[in-house]
Amino acid sequence: FKQSNIRNFSIIAHIDHGKSTLSDRLIQHCGGLADREMAEQVLDSMDLERERGITIKAQSVTLYYNAADGESYQLNFIDTPGHVDFSYEVSRSLAGCEGALLVVDAAQGVEAQTLANCYTAIEMDLEVVPVLNKIDLPQADPMRVAEEIEDIVGIEAVDAVQCSAKTGIGIDDVLERIVRQIPPPGGDAEAPLQALIIDSWFDNYQGVVSLVRVKNGILRAGDKMKVMSTGQVHQIDKVGFFSPKATETGILRTGEVGYVIAGIKDILGAPVGDTLTLAKNSAVGALPGFKKVKPQVYAGMFPISSEDYENFRDALGKLSLNDASLFYEPENSSALGFGFRCGFLGMLHMEIIQERLEREYDIDLITTAPTVVYKVLRTDGKEVSVDNPVNLPPVNDIDVIYEPIVEAHILVPQEFLGNVITLCVDKRGVQTSMNYHGKQVAVTYELPMAEVVMDFFDRLKSTSRGYASLDYQFKRFQEADMVRVDILINNERVDALALITHREHSQTRGRQVVDKMRELIPRQMFDIAIQATIGNHVIARSTVKQLRKNVTAKCYGGDVSRKKKLLQKQKEGKKRMKQLGNVEVPQEAFLAVLKVG
Ligand code: GTP
Repeated sequence: FKQSNIRNFSIIAHIDHGKSTLSDRLIQHCGGLADREMAEQVLDSMDLERERGITIKAQSVTLYYNAADGESYQLNFIDTPGHVDFSYEVSRSLAGCEGALLVVDAAQGVEAQTLANCYTAIEMDLEVVPVLNKIDLPQADPMRVAEEIEDIVGIEAVDAVQCSAKTGIGIDDVLERIVRQIPPPGGDAEAPLQALIIDSWFDNYQGVVSLVRVKNGILRAGDKMKVMSTGQVHQIDKVGFFSPKATETGILRTGEVGYVIAGIKDILGAPVGDTLTLAKNSAVGALPGFKKVKPQVYAGMFPISSEDYENFRDALGKLSLNDASLFYEPENSSALGFGFRCGFLGMLHMEIIQERLEREYDIDLITTAPTVVYKVLRTDGKEVSVDNPVNLPPVNDIDVIYEPIVEAHILVPQEFLGNVITLCVDKRGVQTSMNYHGKQVAVTYELPMAEVVMDFFDRLKSTSRGYASLDYQFKRFQEADMVRVDILINNERVDALALITHREHSQTRGRQVVDKMRELIPRQMFDIAIQATIGNHVIARSTVKQLRKNVTAKCYGGDVSRKKKLLQKQKEGKKRMKQLGNVEVPQEAFLAVLKVG
């Protein structure tokens, strides 16, 4: 394909604005799939994504389009995730593109998350093409939304293309805009090979598969390639693109996007953001990679059965290959045994990793309550990072604790502004700006990260009937009066249950956690005392009373199926229990802190 007839693009869209539907339409329109295969949305490839209806990993599709100008074009579409936790992956996908479609629901308008990704695209010098979707809806108001795009995003949108991914109206126009507005890729076909690794994943049969964008030169099966950061040389086995099925071509030229398989077995052999070149006639320099993202939330993960430990470690290794933001290191808990301290971008990221470990790798886990990273200045003048409440130095050794503060951008319709402000104040937020854009208000708050990562997003959604949207990033560390609250079960301190909280909230938090745990820990043959303490000071206590009667006795002789159900329920409950001394504690109890406040 002529380089001038290639277009590489991504879609930026807020969750539910129709990105998956639109991409399926584009694929269908270009004949990538038979109608039968369209039944399922194709780009969200992992089961988990399909179930949750969100896009997590970058994927690509190569399409052929015969445009109105009589030319045939190769369109490489790189998918991006839409959730606030995954914005770093967006910049990764954008690095392979010259343009991006900004898809906005013509009934809903602009949302904060779209905004942040859009600015990233503009910063990266991409051509941003606004697309107003869902114009079939009676409440669609494309003129208002176009104005909103101009006003809030700051790009021209009066003649934005209008379409309905659902009915198919305007899909031709979208394709024409891609061809006309997005520039073809630059790059020198004669220069030494430089290919950017956009994503890598592990395939049990093929080894490591990498999605790459060829920036200069040509990538050919049979050649020997070099991974620039490690200097390792591999023979290229297979090269091709996804259409969306893997299609072997044996060659990828300058400007193209596709996959490379080179028999790399070591999962760290093809890191995301790295540059591939040829072993002979190597490029002199690597391409600029991606910003390293740091995990913001840490939690302990422990296999319920210690036999799973090795599998667990391998699984984490595989998952972290195409998820540079997943961090892990061994952790040993006296309550939960051997496991890993894992770092995540946010709560959704944590839940997804946990679910993937359980589903794809069949490992049952106990996860401890997540925590952010605190900086602690000790009285001896040393500064330490604390990502685990257990490692908070003794009170007498602490000079100052600093907590991470984020800058949160919230877009909300005026009618819900009051609710949002109340929520932010409740979460120790400080307002830094507020601007009206038509019906929408853009507010900025500085908030403790600890408050934001937990349940803030859900609370924000429920307090605004789903209309408010959020984007945030780390701003700075700030002195804060934090304390560690320990939880004792039958007078034994359980390390995995400790939490760090603001002193002002510590009494209530302690009380709430203890109460919640009393509900969550099943009754046993003896009383179970649950206490919350700060140092030696007990701030809350509660008791799980001993079991009096056989639980099933009540319905015995009566409804047999009900009894069966009850037993079944108990059995399922068992699976995710951990024996602490002689007390059985369910997974939920370890996350009790998330269920309160
Ligand atoms: P993520 O994958 O989570 O980022 O969501 P998404 O942006 O891909 O949204 P998706 O394509 O799954 O669409 C969300 C909902 O909007 C689905 O119920 C679609 O059927 C619906 N939808 C998408 N496009 C249109 C449209 O043009 N008109 C109407 N009426 N509904 C649409």
